[in-house]
Amino acid sequence: MQSLAIVGLQFGDEGKGKLTDTFAKDYDVIVRYQGGNNAGHTVYANGQKYVLHLLPSGIIHSHTLNILGNGMVIDLEALEQEIKPFDVSRIRISNRAHLIVPLHRFLDAQHEEKLTHKIGTTLKGIGPAYQLKATRVGLRMSSLLDLQRFEVELQKLCALYNYSFDVKTYVKTLSPFIKTIQPYIVDTTKLLHDFHKEGRSFCFEGAQGVMLDLDHGTYPFVTSSHPTPSSIPVDAGFPDRFIDRKLGIVKAYLTRVGQGSLPTEFDNDISRGIRERGHEYGATTGRPRRIGHLDMVMLQHAVRVSGANELAITLLDVLMGVAQLKMATHYELDGQKIHEVPAHEADLARVIPHYQTFEGWHIPIDQCKTIQELPLTAKVYLQAIQAMLGIPIRFVSVGPQREQLIVVKEGEL
Ligand code: GDP
Ligand code: IMO
Ligand code: MG
Repeated sequence: MQSLAIVGLQFGDEGKGKLTDTFAKDYDVIVRYQGGNNAGHTVYANGQKYVLHLLPSGIIHSHTLNILGNGMVIDLEALEQEIKPFDVSRIRISNRAHLIVPLHRFLDAQHEEKLTHKIGTTLKGIGPAYQLKATRVGLRMSSLLDLQRFEVELQKLCALYNYSFDVKTYVKTLSPFIKTIQPYIVDTTKLLHDFHKEGRSFCFEGAQGVMLDLDHGTYPFVTSSHPTPSSIPVDAGFPDRFIDRKLGIVKAYLTRVGQGSLPTEFDNDISRGIRERGHEYGATTGRPRRIGHLDMVMLQHAVRVSGANELAITLLDVLMGVAQLKMATHYELDGQKIHEVPAHEADLARVIPHYQTFEGWHIPIDQCKTIQELPLTAKVYLQAIQAMLGIPIRFVSVGPQREQLIVVKEGEL
């Protein structure tokens, strides 16, 4: 297997970072291809906790080369902070990736302020960065290769938006950092293709999740990029035919940060228990994550649009002690049974989820190393997910540590 794409099939925070880090030991090159520091990927390794926002979660393994692809939007100040503990020579940044500067963060906040239906963005400037990219006035990483040119371009951009900003001081303050990364700002597409010819292996780490996809998610309560592997050919310049495995990551329940409908959301002692056991607080903003039952209508949609061909179920350990587990199998809208996600937010807000109920388990599973060691009720829950999604579960994560991962053998589920 030469390449693997890791994709969140829900609203983000499915545990992509943990799995990317765990699998990175077997891959040469790890690639982030979309989003920016709206992402927060938590990894526990070597007795330490890492929260990665821009760098691929493969960075912790010292043999890996880590690429920030052209589809990303990169905040220079955030990158400077995040890169500090790592060896910058193991990072390559696409010369075509877009920059996030304070103007973008300002526009993000201003836009949220004006909206009657607030998105609840991370306020990191993500939406405006993609907006300015599409408007064809954005600044790209290649601008940083000449500091004078960068200053002039940034002056022009700020003037275009009447944004009063001390560009000179900003560029001067950041210039030592910019000079440090200059040698690593390259044509990453060429690099990927050269590596491919050499037979190197690749792991693509998605950010966010399919239900936050600009097209396929719960618009308008989405992010401004495409967190599905379908975007890799555009966002990394790497053809789909080279990507053999598309691993969809599914949290054993559902969480969401920010606004937008969540038909299976519930708020009671059980959801609060899940939030505490699963540490369900945003890794980027610290906001408590909303909790819902597993929603198979959304998951079937996410499998369809992502092309995921295998699954990893994460945070299964967190469900311990929940007496009855619920899974939404279909929705009801205006008296009709439906199996798809309504495109209009107002319709999604009105659907009534219909559930299948499963018996829970009451013993800890975080030390289980095989499927056989899991309680029967946990196996039944996994089998139902697999059957309803029609693709095999290959991994089950039962804790945040690398070794807390069950590899599912053929026919075990
Ligand atoms: P990402 O954005 O998809 O990388 O996910 P986050 O890192 O934002 O959120 C997932 C959280 O769950 C992190 O705190 C992980 O350390 C943690 N985690 C990942 N897998 C498991 C698991 O199987 N069990 C438990 N209890 N925690 C997990
Ligand atoms: P990871 O990679 C969860 C959400 C925000 C908001 C919406 C739009 O850690 O899974 P944005 O700042 O992107 O314009 O906000 O998207 N959001 C995420 N939610 N995990 C993420 O990333 C997210 N990145 C953005 O909360 O609702
Ligand atoms: Mg996250």
